[in-house]
Formats: sequence, structure tokens, C-alpha cells
Amino acid sequence: MKKLLKNPEKYYQPKVRPSGHDISKNFSKDNGGSIPSNLLQIPNSESSSQYLTGCKTASVKRHPARFPAKLPEFFIRFLSDPDDLVVDIFSGSNTTGQVAEAEGRSWISFEQNIEYIAASTFRFLTADVQADEMKKVYEQVCDGETVDLTSYQLERSSSTSVSEEYKTHVQPSLLAHE
Ligand SMILES: C[S@@+](CC[C@H](N)C(=O)[O-])C[C@H]1O[C@@H](n2cnc3c(N)ncnc32)[C@H](O)[C@@H]1O
Repeated sequence: MKKLLKNPEKYYQPKVRPSGHDISKNFSKDNGGSIPSNLLQIPNSESSSQYLTGCKTASVKRHPARFPAKLPEFFIRFLSDPDDLVVDIFSGSNTTGQVAEAEGRSWISFEQNIEYIAASTFRFLTADVQADEMKKVYEQVCDGETVDLTSYQLERSSSTSVSEEYKTHVQPSLLAHE
């Protein structure tokens, strides 16, 4: 914000945002406010995640407004215990679900855009799943089918890291990890 106040033209142009909010010239006005000490500052520097790799491999659109994983991680650790249920009602690419799973929580996620749900499956496939299989899962979800992702994980893994208790199901508008 300090940089923006010094040189507003460099950082934004007054216009109507995709959300419909009209960001006018007044946005660069210094009202003497200060950055709160409890502001979470997290860089959004994701460049080689399983999700992005999956989108590239399967040639599908990536979600344009993903959380950095550290954001849901902070709140999940702060506000829940292992085995608790984490619910995200606007889940997008489901960063929250992936982090919840890594933190040993169950999760349920809702999203209105079926393509975002379909692409979010890449977060839960093992790294050796081939491009054609990724595309198949993506298309099944887009077609409204329920897909049990464990079949793409278990058949390759003799370890118990992806076990019966870690079942990720994807249904239209809903993802869930039991
Ligand atoms: C800012 S994005 C969330 C991004 C997400 N945190 C991530 O890391 O990918 C908000 C999402 O909410 C979805 N959304 C908006 N209204 C919704 C509704 N009524 N029901 C379900 N999803 C909705 C949008 O499609 C969008 O993907």
C-alpha cells in the first residue's frame, strides 16, 4: 500500500473490477491509515505445484484466484484439531481441501464451477498418473460422474499412505474427503 500511495499509476488503473466494484482514483488517496499488525502477509509464489502441473499436462484452465496454501494452513492449524472437519463453501481449486488433508483433517468443499472442481482432482492424484488418465478424470467430473480418486492412487501404491480412510470422492458441486 505504501508503494501504491507513492506511485499509484504504476500499481493500478481506476476501472470496474471483475467483481463489479468500481475502483476509482480515490483508491490512491492517503487517508492516514496504517497496516494492522495482525495482517497475514503471504507471498503467492506457487509455480510448480501438482495442481499447476496437472492443469498443464491435461491442457485445462487453471483457477485464476487461488489461495496460497499457507493461508488455509494458518487457519486450519489455529482453529481445528486433527480429525476435525474443514468446510469450504467457495472452494475454487480446493487449496483448502488439499491443505486440510495434509493436516490430517477431513474436509468437504463446494464449488459452483464444475471445471474448477474437475481440475482440483489433480491435487489428489499421485505424481505418476499419466496425462490421458488425468484428462479422463477431468472429463468424468465435468460430465457429472462421481469419481473415487483412490483407484488412481491405490493401484500404484503398495504403501498404506493412501489408505481406505483417505477416500476422496468428487461429485458435481461437491468434493469430500472422509
Ligand atoms: C476466490 S475463489 C476461491 C479460490 C480458492 N480459495 C482456491 O484456493 O482455489 C471463489 C470461488 O467461489 C466460487 N463461488 C462463487 N459463488 C458460489 C456459490 N454460490 N456456490 C459455490 N461456489 C461459488 C467461484 O466459482 C470461485 O471459484
